[in-house]
Amino acid sequence: MYSAVQPSGNLTIGNFTGAIRNWVRMQNDFDCFYAIADMHAITVRQDPALLRRRTIELAALYLACGLDPEKCTLYVQSQVSAHAELGWILNTIAYVGEMERMTQFKDKSQKHADNINMGLMDYPVLMAADILLYQADYVPVGIDQKQHVEITRDLAIRFNHRYGDTFRVPEPYILKEGAKIMSLQDPMKKMSKSDENLNASVFLADDRDTVIRKFKRAVTDSDSEIRISDEKPGITNLLNIYAAFKGCTLQDAEREFQGSGYGDFKLAVGETVADALAPVQEKQKRLLADKAYLNDVLKSGAENAFRAARRTLSKVCRKIGFYRGE
Ligand code: TRP
Repeated sequence: MYSAVQPSGNLTIGNFTGAIRNWVRMQNDFDCFYAIADMHAITVRQDPALLRRRTIELAALYLACGLDPEKCTLYVQSQVSAHAELGWILNTIAYVGEMERMTQFKDKSQKHADNINMGLMDYPVLMAADILLYQADYVPVGIDQKQHVEITRDLAIRFNHRYGDTFRVPEPYILKEGAKIMSLQDPMKKMSKSDENLNASVFLADDRDTVIRKFKRAVTDSDSEIRISDEKPGITNLLNIYAAFKGCTLQDAEREFQGSGYGDFKLAVGETVADALAPVQEKQKRLLADKAYLNDVLKSGAENAFRAARRTLSKVCRKIGFYRGE
């Protein structure tokens, strides 16, 4: 199993219930490689000091959420040079036309019109290199990354066809929609780490008062009934969040708040989320105070990753005819 996350922006509770908790769950059942994709992050402009800080904060966060370095490999992408090397080779079988058609490339080109760099277009090729280096069977991602996993499959099949069987062809493992958390200000929109309205998203780093205040201000609707309904996206979203953090079903949540008022309900959701975040924040803070430990975890993660990656890379170099002595 292979997945990665970019160290850009602050993570929201949506990232927590979607990506992070799934990574933690899967480490027990699969041989997992998890990367912090700093090489992907620099395809849009980053402040170097901030990038460095976010990388280590993200590593600490994942450990705080329960990733266990004894059970999985957690590492920083740029610490394993094989990613760049395989990325270059895959570039020679990837077509400009297919990269230009990628939805995320088109979106980001619009958003960063002053910085449409080669890396931005090449992003999916580097992602393919990430995945294929580890011969991953499954790639847990959100629906927005599915197209990139599909292009990874295409590149693997193309390479295997041209040079002989080399790469395992991976499957996307799309994370459940049930965990989809919407904006608190516009429940038709996904909660996003880059929303301009600061009340729309609850961040994992938010303190208790901030969490509770944001839920208090969450958009609901004019009647006062708490039930799951397409006509009540705000209330349904809050019930979803409550269920995700309480670990109960959506129906249980609905039952629990039957007959409650909106005010009490929002407060209960806010408190539940704040209660769940507190120990994670506390643990993350403790880990960040011990940089030597974190650096160690990442160093042995990178060594582990390199060992696995090198096997694939040697094979690739042989297949394409790079001279390594005869
Ligand atoms: N592009 C992914 C994202 O932004 C992060 C990523 C980089 C990734 N390399 C990967 C995800 C390999 C899965 C597999 O979410």
